[in-house]
Amino acid sequence: LIPSTPQLWTTAHVQSTLPRRDSNSHKGSFGTALLIAGTQEMPGAALLAGLGAMRSGLGKLVIATEPEAIAMIVSGLPEATYLQNGLQQIAQRKSSIDPYRAAAIGPGTHPDSATESAVMVLLESQIPIILDAGALSKRSYPTRQSPVILTPHPAEFARITGVDINLLETNRSHYASLWAQKLQVAIVLKGPSTVVAFPDGDTWINPTGNSALAKGGSGDTLTGMMLGMLCCHEDWKHAVLNAVHIHGACADEWITTRSAHTLLAHELIEVLPVVWKKFD
Ligand code: APR
Ligand code: MG
Repeated sequence: LIPSTPQLWTTAHVQSTLPRRDSNSHKGSFGTALLIAGTQEMPGAALLAGLGAMRSGLGKLVIATEPEAIAMIVSGLPEATYLQNGLQQIAQRKSSIDPYRAAAIGPGTHPDSATESAVMVLLESQIPIILDAGALSKRSYPTRQSPVILTPHPAEFARITGVDINLLETNRSHYASLWAQKLQVAIVLKGPSTVVAFPDGDTWINPTGNSALAKGGSGDTLTGMMLGMLCCHEDWKHAVLNAVHIHGACADEWITTRSAHTLLAHELIEVLPVVWKKFD
């Protein structure tokens, strides 16, 4: 395993890889995404990820969550539809994965056996999947046609790999790349200068983002944006890199006129349309 020298994923990369929205397209053209997120205690994580997803190029979104969370999310995101008790439905194979183009699981879910079972069902499918927060655990991954994308912050990375967190901080891109190749998954190691490491050894550093993002909910928003981007990009690697870059660019836009102390995660989604337009 040879960790390659990481390169910067720049504005020019984003501009040359962001997809156009074909004038003849319809909602079916961009696919239906599945977001398994949120619980009664953490409904906001599902809302934030849902907002990020629906503002990032998909056709339709189904949110699999608990009934109490649905009641709280609906008014903030009337455009989504729901799979009631969806995590259990998927874990018990009572609801099929076939209709979906991509799936994300974990924001605001508990790292319990039901989540683990749902992850196993997703891994058996052939769609790209994003594993975040509650869906990140120490495990191995089967060989499959479509990518598995992990989005850990440093503590989550330490938990799923066993790498000491202090050691990790001494060479983040090295460890991200090493483990992406070992596990044969893509790893988005979050934090300042987020590292995006692919299973083939290809490794990138994201130059956007700032300390305004150091607040609960900003990771959930990223997971949603990545899910939406997977639905509208042809190349899944570009989807991952562009989601990370534009997410950071939204925070950079925020601090041009507002204090870095004041950003709320859902406000990333409010500046996203104007920030995205700058890359179009
Ligand atoms: N500079 C640049 N970017 C930063 C900084 C910083 N100083 N601090 C944080 N970020 C970015 C990260 O790169 C990432 O995109 O903000 C995001 C934070 O993501 P998480 O750490 O996952 O935070 P979040 O998910 O919003 O926090 C609540 O954490 O443990 C989980 O389950 C828990 O979902 C819950 C969550
Ligand atoms: Mg998180």
